[in-house]
Amino acid sequence: MISARLTIDPHFVVGPINRRLFGSFVEHLGRCVYDGIYEPEHPDADKEGYRRDVIELVKELGVSTIRYPGGNFLSGYRWEDGVGPREKRPRRLDLAWHSTETNEIGLDEFASWLKKVDSELMYAVNLGTRGLQEALDVLEYANVRSGTTLSDQRIANGVVEPYAIRMWCLGNEMDGPWQLGHGTPEEYGQLAVKTARAMRQLDPTLELVVCGSSNAQMPLFANWERVVLEAAYDEVDYISCHAYYEPHDGDYASFLASAVNMDRFIDSVVATADHVKAVRGSNKTINVSFDEWNVWYHSRYAEVDRITGIDDWPVAPRLLEDAYSVADAVVVGSLLISLLRHADRVTSASLAQLVNVIAPIMTEPGGPAWRQTTFFPFALTSRLARGVTLELKLESPIYNTALHGEVGVVDAVATHDAGTGDTAVFMVNRSLTEAVELAVDVSNLGRVEVVDAQSLHDDDIHATNTLDDPLRVGLTPNTSHSIEHGILRITLPPVSWTAVTLR
Ligand code: AHR
Repeated sequence: MISARLTIDPHFVVGPINRRLFGSFVEHLGRCVYDGIYEPEHPDADKEGYRRDVIELVKELGVSTIRYPGGNFLSGYRWEDGVGPREKRPRRLDLAWHSTETNEIGLDEFASWLKKVDSELMYAVNLGTRGLQEALDVLEYANVRSGTTLSDQRIANGVVEPYAIRMWCLGNEMDGPWQLGHGTPEEYGQLAVKTARAMRQLDPTLELVVCGSSNAQMPLFANWERVVLEAAYDEVDYISCHAYYEPHDGDYASFLASAVNMDRFIDSVVATADHVKAVRGSNKTINVSFDEWNVWYHSRYAEVDRITGIDDWPVAPRLLEDAYSVADAVVVGSLLISLLRHADRVTSASLAQLVNVIAPIMTEPGGPAWRQTTFFPFALTSRLARGVTLELKLESPIYNTALHGEVGVVDAVATHDAGTGDTAVFMVNRSLTEAVELAVDVSNLGRVEVVDAQSLHDDDIHATNTLDDPLRVGLTPNTSHSIEHGILRITLPPVSWTAVTLR
């Protein structure tokens, strides 16, 4: 057993936690929409064709905001294909995922589904094959009350109240060579600033997200952010970050420390944004929208899922259907720790994605829906992390990783809700072999007790929840704790994620 120490003080605040940190992402990709949230033939479908079991799981997951409709799909999408009478909607090639898009679900249907799951819509406009005019058109359709062709078209389609969508993404991953219409940072910066200005002419209160790099390994990373923000700084509110993690060559020591990479990524983007701010002498601060993050086994996708035939454009194929393990869930929990630690600058984030496609929720057509391992840390963090993030003093043994250098065995973050007085502590033990005895100094919180402690852990770190065994992995109460003289002592099993509520 190894030991570590943590000190919590409610007076030292990083920043308020924006509920948008617990967002997700629905793309027209594989079976995320069709056969995922929407399956009219399913015995549990409601009268609009949405699966009730999925709606219940999305609510349980506690998702605040959902980014839609893509993703790489977005950059070839015509939003108007997805509105109006269904029988007249065109079927289109989706070049990004080599599929056929039937357009049965579009903006109006998705917004109606969002009401059922009680989430906010974060809408993305296509700046790949399209541009400023189409962005203005969909904004008019969605947000203008009435009296114009497009707003009246929405009303004629049965939606009287405008959607009042606040957050808009200006394209998707526009630096990526795989992206339809990708370009240089100078080209994208100009397109983004013109589109943003035009959208704000229609509604100055919109919150706009400009595309950062597709990931921190892109050759232009940081320069892309700088050039784009030099063009668009005054017109946007957020810059996006995207990051996906997976183990490479069985190196779980590095994989379990993926949050170290996320920390550095966020710090670099914040530094770049603040550099542009300083050069401009601006008073405005650009925050981060981490609008795609997760574990994603790209390696499996390359081998199994890619469809290349010129005559093979399936509807809703099984794409990117990763089955997540215990180790993956511990990484997801630790990525949430990283996001919370940066609550002062990361004010929006989206777990990519929501259903079937690299998702916490899986479904079988005509069959059940179930929670993946990654569902649990997300749902519990979304439920418990309220109020503000606290600065912590963490003293942990370190270990060496091939990818990230020396990292702490333990990572942790704490949140405090002044309204309820609750403090939540989220912790990971990244050791593959050793349990950790963690001593948490909670004396500055006054007299508190542990009201709940849950861990995600299994002796088999590769265990997954599947169609045949959907309840194999879950949270278990962590009973190995005690509080004496202001010190909480708790045992963290190897490769585990733990959440504790103190009151
Ligand atoms: O989430 C899957 C894909 O990952 C998205 O379509 C794209 O934006 C990213 O590369």
